[in-house]
Amino acid sequence: MTVAYPRKFRNELSAQAILAQVVKNREVHMVTLNRYRFNEQRSCKDLTDLIERLNGQPRDMVKELSHHVSDEARHAYWLTDLLYDLGEDVGTPPGSSYIDEFERLLDNNASAHPEDMLIEALAAINVTEKRGCEYFSAHIKVLKSGEQTPENIKIRETIEQIMPEEVGHVRWGNRKLAEIAKKSPAHYAKVDVAKRKYSAIEQAAFESGMDVLMGAEFRRVNNLMKVVETLPMWQRPQYLLEKLPQTLLSPELQKTRIDLAQKAWERDPISFVQNFIPMFFSADLKSAQKAAHK
Ligand SMILES: [Fe+2]
Ligand SMILES: [Fe+2]
Repeated sequence: MTVAYPRKFRNELSAQAILAQVVKNREVHMVTLNRYRFNEQRSCKDLTDLIERLNGQPRDMVKELSHHVSDEARHAYWLTDLLYDLGEDVGTPPGSSYIDEFERLLDNNASAHPEDMLIEALAAINVTEKRGCEYFSAHIKVLKSGEQTPENIKIRETIEQIMPEEVGHVRWGNRKLAEIAKKSPAHYAKVDVAKRKYSAIEQAAFESGMDVLMGAEFRRVNNLMKVVETLPMWQRPQYLLEKLPQTLLSPELQKTRIDLAQKAWERDPISFVQNFIPMFFSADLKSAQKAAHK
């Protein structure tokens, strides 16, 4: 059985390396917290949508999902309270949204059979929860090792409150998928395919939200092809036709680039020319990182 775990960003940067940079820049730190808040809030909407589609069956699944919604709503309000108390933005965060990209990459032609739909939904929830755990645990580690300001302590305590519940959600998803896989070899195969498919979709969504450097469009297509490889042959052309245009010509990607460029320009025009422009054109992460933190 596939063990679907999130990979590092372009196989190079660990969550902890990314978070260490995020925490150093307060503005980026606050946007990151607001993205957590937004994702928690959005997951309430998605879980509610799944409950409605299940329409009462299986009963125990509906009950467990309703508890899950309540957990995610609590996470959203803890993070909203945190940002509110810090006087920070609680609106839609700027830049590409991981969750929107994830949803854009979903296969609209997936089976409508209730059990298949449930397997797909569980696999999709499970892989995003794993990414959440990876980020929260790295965030806590970075905040523990850094300067203990009242603000950073408050942020760490909020994430520490959320983290055990997210671990519980991952375990719940693993258990539910394993129960379905045990029913028959056909079920086993369906669960395995779903795990591989959603892990490829999640990786593509995750990287697209972080990668705005030169050549990002081609790396997106590469990730899209990895999703395509997990689909049955007959679904591949249609999926590709639907997803390829926006992958290549993403207005969100362009907007994020322009926003970032504007911010860098406003902050320091000289550094913009010396560091920021080469960062985009080299598309080399190591030098990009160095340049971004000079
Ligand atoms: Fe959550
Ligand atoms: Fe969760």
